Amino acid sequence: MDTYGVKVQRELYAVPAGQRLPVGYAAWKAAARTVLRPEVFDYIQGGAGRENTQQANLEAFRRLYLLPRPLSAVEKGPRDLSVELFGGRQSSPLLLAPVGKLGCVHPAGEVAAADGARRAGIACVVSCLGSRVLEEVAEAYGDGTRWFQLYPASNPRISESLVRRAEASGYRALVITVDTPVMGWRPRDLRHGYYPFSHGHGLGNYLCDPAFRAELGFDPADDPGRSLEYFLRVLAHDTLGWSELTAIRCMTSLPVLVKGILHPQDAQAALQHGFDGLIVSNHGGRHLDGVIPALYALPGIVRAVDGRIPVLFDSGVRTGDDVLKAMALGARAVLVGRPYVYGLAVAGVEGVSAVLRQLVAELDISMIHARCRTLNDVHMTPSLVKSLPDGGSPSF
Ligand code: GLV
Repeated sequence: MDTYGVKVQRELYAVPAGQRLPVGYAAWKAAARTVLRPEVFDYIQGGAGRENTQQANLEAFRRLYLLPRPLSAVEKGPRDLSVELFGGRQSSPLLLAPVGKLGCVHPAGEVAAADGARRAGIACVVSCLGSRVLEEVAEAYGDGTRWFQLYPASNPRISESLVRRAEASGYRALVITVDTPVMGWRPRDLRHGYYPFSHGHGLGNYLCDPAFRAELGFDPADDPGRSLEYFLRVLAHDTLGWSELTAIRCMTSLPVLVKGILHPQDAQAALQHGFDGLIVSNHGGRHLDGVIPALYALPGIVRAVDGRIPVLFDSGVRTGDDVLKAMALGARAVLVGRPYVYGLAVAGVEGVSAVLRQLVAELDISMIHARCRTLNDVHMTPSLVKSLPDGGSPSF
């Protein structure tokens, strides 16, 4: 019975008072609030508009219940939380969601986040908007599975250059985010007047990029203001369509996933255009308020894809049982964002690693209770999740 989750539980009980790190999302978040400047905390915590979608992401998980069958047959043997994705096996179905501008949270930003993920054995999706450049992050992460996330640039030469650099640095998949034509309307940031880009966070990969510099036509150090303006023009892409996306897919032989899909017809279009995976996500409610909770979109997309490519899930995952629920609805793997950012704020590399270990341990223990030995058992038990009649979620 002394499996991963139980071992981590024992370790946590044994930590002397005074050396204890927070346990659970609410505690990490509360601790982060005490160490981050208010504008930075709000930048991480905040969402678009009234933050209804952000709340609804969490509510969707709360309204979905588990219905375990404690006496059902389960194969003997150690729990196996590993998952195969694009030819690589990962020890758990968790991935670090791409969160950029982490230099505002911790001096080592994405490098510390990657190091924490490496220590916890978790795969990483590294943001193109990092405060640290993708080559440095790759080095910190060593041999672990890391993917690179890209916002399609309005100038394809810049996208291509970033893709080439990611390939050269050993990233094993490309994740294209499609739900961000511009940054969302975020009242918290507007009230603080806090815009991380203006503080130099998020531009690193671009300012050193040969294609970006060639298009800019001058050394960014000579005119940071005009460089920022050009960068924002490159980032804004309100006419993005399948042809641009397919052009990026054709730039690389890496597997390419589309992140930010919520509609089953878009999932079908991604299949038709030859993409290798999907990430169902509403960007943690950060871009368009009023969008449906990502969890509600998941079953329809899983049905539309019908096992042909992996469907991953992001938006609102806070606990191990959330991971279990998303996987019972058909997600092959799950991305977490805010939880590890709070870990980073509170205790740097240690904090990221602790948050992730706690999540995996909670998943492991949840699986014991749900009588699932492997993630395949979870997928094979859709009856594990139930919404209450008044739960507000569609039937599936
Ligand atoms: C950017 O991707 C953000 O969510 O702030």
